[in-house]
Amino acid sequence: MLNKGKLRLYIDKRTIDRRVAELAERITRDYKGKVPIFIGVLNGAFIFLSDLIRKLGLDTEIDFLKLSSYGDSKISSGDVRLLKDLNCELANRDIIVVEDIIDSGLSIKFIHDLIANHKPSSLEFAALLYKRRPKNLDFKIKYVGFRITNKFVVGYGLDCAQKYRNLKSIYVVT
Ligand code: IMP
Ligand code: MG
Repeated sequence: MLNKGKLRLYIDKRTIDRRVAELAERITRDYKGKVPIFIGVLNGAFIFLSDLIRKLGLDTEIDFLKLSSYGDSKISSGDVRLLKDLNCELANRDIIVVEDIIDSGLSIKFIHDLIANHKPSSLEFAALLYKRRPKNLDFKIKYVGFRITNKFVVGYGLDCAQKYRNLKSIYVVT
């Protein structure tokens, strides 16, 4: 049995589903005639990415990269490391990086610089959740699911010490 004792429902699964469908429609329109590469940021983005790409009316490719900065803590250590690199060619391709949540912006900035170095023809970002306005982000996050206040959330791919990723809705840890 899942113990949801310390969790408060924040965004229910139907609201998530509707919003992911809206983002998929927008991306389908914006990339008509193209074959973008979706890059999922492990582990948190795996459910958002898999729902998003199944709602697209486009041919796509996917790859994953994995970063570490949080460990099992709820606060970023500020030190971003690459744990798994990409296996695909990025030059002259349309890239959409898919993140679960943007908090301080450190991870997405690291990924932006990593990918921009490979000279893709375009580079955009999709984040299911956007926690606060990160300082020093000199690029836009084009596709945002929900803007949220500064709470620690779990479910729909997001974890707290690796737990709760399999919940269908998003919850606040109380
Ligand atoms: P940033 O580098 O501070 O923007 O942190 C981004 C990463 O931290 C996300 O990709 C998540 O993996 C993790 N993270 C940030 N906030 C939360 C949260 O509220 N719940 C779960 N993971 C989070
Ligand atoms: Mg993450």
